[in-house]
Amino acid sequence: MYSPAFSAYNSVVETMASLDLSVLVLFILAFFVIADICKNANPRNYPPGPVALPFVGNLFSLDFSRPHSYLTKLSEVYGDVFSFRIGRDKTVYVNGFRMVKEALVAQGENFVDRPASPMVHKIYKGNNGIFFSNGQMWKQQRRFALTTLRNLGLGKSTLEKAIVQESSYLQEEIGKERGEPFDPAVILNNAVSNIICQLVFGRRFVYTDQSFQTLLQALSEAMKLEGSMWAQLYEAFPAVMKHLPGPHNVLFRHYQAFEAFIRAEVEKHKQNLDHGSPGDYINAFLIEMENHKYDPVLGFDELNMVMCSLDLFLAGTETTSTSLHWGLLYMIIHTDIQEKVQAEIDDVIGHGRQPSMADRPNMPYTDAVIHEIQRMGNIVPLNPPRMANKDTTLGGFLIPKGTTLMANLNSVLFDITEWETPYTFNPAHFLDRDGKFVRREAFMPFSAGKRLCPGEGLARMELFLFFVSLLQKFSFSSSEGPELDLDGQYGVTRMPHPFKIHARPR
Ligand code: HEM
Repeated sequence: MYSPAFSAYNSVVETMASLDLSVLVLFILAFFVIADICKNANPRNYPPGPVALPFVGNLFSLDFSRPHSYLTKLSEVYGDVFSFRIGRDKTVYVNGFRMVKEALVAQGENFVDRPASPMVHKIYKGNNGIFFSNGQMWKQQRRFALTTLRNLGLGKSTLEKAIVQESSYLQEEIGKERGEPFDPAVILNNAVSNIICQLVFGRRFVYTDQSFQTLLQALSEAMKLEGSMWAQLYEAFPAVMKHLPGPHNVLFRHYQAFEAFIRAEVEKHKQNLDHGSPGDYINAFLIEMENHKYDPVLGFDELNMVMCSLDLFLAGTETTSTSLHWGLLYMIIHTDIQEKVQAEIDDVIGHGRQPSMADRPNMPYTDAVIHEIQRMGNIVPLNPPRMANKDTTLGGFLIPKGTTLMANLNSVLFDITEWETPYTFNPAHFLDRDGKFVRREAFMPFSAGKRLCPGEGLARMELFLFFVSLLQKFSFSSSEGPELDLDGQYGVTRMPHPFKIHARPR
């Protein structure tokens, strides 16, 4: 039997021990919180922003379904240049036409690079491709892609013919629906993708090719996943996320499938390489690889060929087809505008011949409508990330070297100081009093400055020819009518929610 004194002594010791343990835990926790606060402390004159929690930063306050709207709203509170943190990743957001132009154009040299990203590193296996690469390699490969696309017909009648030909396949396919409701997403994607596929791989894919359709569906899903919370979590906590199950793994699997598809195309090209007439981007690259065998800085190697082709294929497919998809949606909602476009088509082109780029200057209303579709469609609301390559002052704030910078293109396309009716579909934004087409500086869906989309010329040609040939042949409507959802679903691009249309032959 223990004496009461001994029991009392024991319980005091136990209390002390448990106290010691909780004090220790509290101490360790406090240590990590303080270390995190010190590590993430902002330098003097850093842009303001919402208060960030230890470790996670502002992760839980971001609205992942509409990040661009949420971030545009924050600019009303914190100004055109503000900061935001997810995990360890500090980002400065730049908003409004004037400040975005200042960052991307006037100070473009300081923000020309892309930041390191664990996800990009895993997919691209280093400084490869065009989209995410930096330095001499990026410069060289961007120039090579632009020159090759130009040599292959960009801006010339050969490419125009290929797009017009593809438009007639598309019309034929839509005609098969016989006016019954159908979802246009996949077929538009296939038609648009066939143009970049002809330039990169030298061939198109028929609309019944099941494995190509599966690839395109994976592409759409990958674009959505890249904008999801899972992707952000992977970027912020790669060491943890790489061990966890979740949709981020689906994203990596899709990229493996794209890579395998391109590698198979490359193998076919190697077997039939014609040095005299390259005919497509992969052949041109294979020839260039022989010329630059001993110059690793320029990136003419097989892995980089696959990654650059992947970039052209991805960037050249989803963006333009999503824009056309928005175009059909806006035409269904604004039937009066659809009729005015058709009246202009009938007037300038008629029904007997196919459209050509030479028609565009004579069709200012249609041109204005396509621009307004791109403005309201707002398909890349947040420009892909850039990084300050030196300490830079922007809007009076210090952006330290290495900070990620995101240009909010949504805030430019809807800038209330630039657009007369920013939230209304209004082709008059691009027309003067006499009905002539006018360019607007704040029309920036392709971004601006040194990393401006190199596919702009191609995309604009595709948008005009596909859009005009569709409205020349069909009138579009939907039983869902004005109830159609214009909110869109957000990924890397902003896509319309699925909808069904009727295409009535004209
Ligand atoms: C409506 C269609 C399109 C839109 C709205 C669009 C938009 C954009 C935007 C916003 C960027 C980011 C530029 C920056 O970081 O500042 C970009 C980059 C890029 N786009 Fe496009 N794009 C479109 C079509 C195309 C097409 C058809 C191609 C194929 C040739 C293409 C290839 C690329 C590439 C390779 C980049 C990376 C450029 C670089 O980092 O240097 N895009 N695009």
